[in-house]
Amino acid sequence: MNTGNAMHRRDFMAAGLAAATVPLIAPAAQAGLGRVVNLSLTAGPSRVQLVGGKYPATEVWAYNASVPGPVIRAKQGDRLRVAVTNALAEPTTVHFHGVRMPNAMDGVPFVTQKPIAPGGSFVYEFDLPDAGTFWYHPHFNGGEQIGRGLAGVLVVEEREPIEVDRDLVWALDDWRLDKNAAIAGDFRQMHDLAHGGRLGNTVTVNGRVREEFRVRAGERIRLRLVNTANARAFALRFEGHAPRIIALDGQPVAPHTPADGTVVIAPAQRVDLILDMTGKPGARAGLGDSYYRGQAHRILALVYDDKPLRPRPLDAPVALPANPLPEPDLAKAVRHEILLEGGAMGGMRGAKVAGAGGKPEYLGMRDMVTRGLFWSINGVAVPETARAITPLATLKRGASHILAMENRTAWDHPMHLHGHSFRVLTRNGKPVPHRPWRDTVLLRPEDKVEVAFVADNPGDWMFHCHITEHMAAGMMASVKVA
Ligand code: C2O
Ligand code: CU
Repeated sequence: MNTGNAMHRRDFMAAGLAAATVPLIAPAAQAGLGRVVNLSLTAGPSRVQLVGGKYPATEVWAYNASVPGPVIRAKQGDRLRVAVTNALAEPTTVHFHGVRMPNAMDGVPFVTQKPIAPGGSFVYEFDLPDAGTFWYHPHFNGGEQIGRGLAGVLVVEEREPIEVDRDLVWALDDWRLDKNAAIAGDFRQMHDLAHGGRLGNTVTVNGRVREEFRVRAGERIRLRLVNTANARAFALRFEGHAPRIIALDGQPVAPHTPADGTVVIAPAQRVDLILDMTGKPGARAGLGDSYYRGQAHRILALVYDDKPLRPRPLDAPVALPANPLPEPDLAKAVRHEILLEGGAMGGMRGAKVAGAGGKPEYLGMRDMVTRGLFWSINGVAVPETARAITPLATLKRGASHILAMENRTAWDHPMHLHGHSFRVLTRNGKPVPHRPWRDTVLLRPEDKVEVAFVADNPGDWMFHCHITEHMAAGMMASVKVA
């Protein structure tokens, strides 16, 4: 990162938009040469000012008392060691979303570790093979724990970063608040489980409702967008600007402006943008979201300082170096069909339901509903409390695999695979431009999407919808790489 000028950074801090970065203790000081980055995270209750003005602070659950949690910054090739303490009244785990790591560190309760009991702790330690924008969140009672504020961003910097004036993280979140800015306690509510998940009524950027974001003419910003919402997707438009996408889910992609100028980011996804501030000093431009029909709204306004930073934005290259991902061999890839079913208006009759460690039993839809289950993957619904999950498929280690997913429901599903990144090959039979690497791919209603990857990471890896209410209501599975 090339840090613009100090004065500008102060302005930015004053605007309150900077997320806290944890102080890191780095014994071996050489950056990016396999140093160990140590830090502690405590998950516990806290109070933060989510909404401004006359509203009181909101009781939240947070990492190190901040929402979002501290931005963890490390360099590609570093090793991360995070000591997590659970100060909640219920068990938790931490999953570092999108990081390719050994299975035992993946933070999935009962599958890769015992949940961390209240008062307990667990040390996550793993190498960071890929540069990019990742995030961390609980994988236990996720709808409520993430919904109450437990989420943070992990930035793994390239060994040689591209030249920008500011490298910023924006964690986008969506909250369901009452009129006193308190979090509505209706988690696992049937309607949310069966429809589009827990959609809220308040959008925050780095844990705060924002009016303005200050910029300067000629400035180049690398904006790392992270969607930490339970259910809300965003379709962002930067009025009068042409952001270029340089990475998706942490993985570099050929720099391009999105087709209609709109940046779509579903729950759990990340988008790294190059935002060149091409407006005039003193100008204002809206940042709008129009994902849901008839619900377009403004998130904030970009407000230009009276003094330009430079006459025109930098003209340095913005393409990122590729991460060391194995390229799938499509000619030899094994194909796995994945069918997503259920939800309101889905016509699902029933599914096999995994018991508490026992054999799955078939339940009709009505019995599923009484257990809060509404969704299935390949005819199996896995409850969040399942102690044992029979893998959907066993993938031969080292071989290439295609997951051919079909969304036979009336709802969106951002599908996430742990432990691997995959190339998105086709959507509804058409090649996807740039064939991006991702770890979470959005399937709109009736979509068919094919992704491919080399199953090079042994273990049982979760494969689930990242709308936390869908995940809690059955849309959860695993694959075994062996
Ligand atoms: Cu973001 Cu299974 O996780
Ligand atoms: Cu879903």
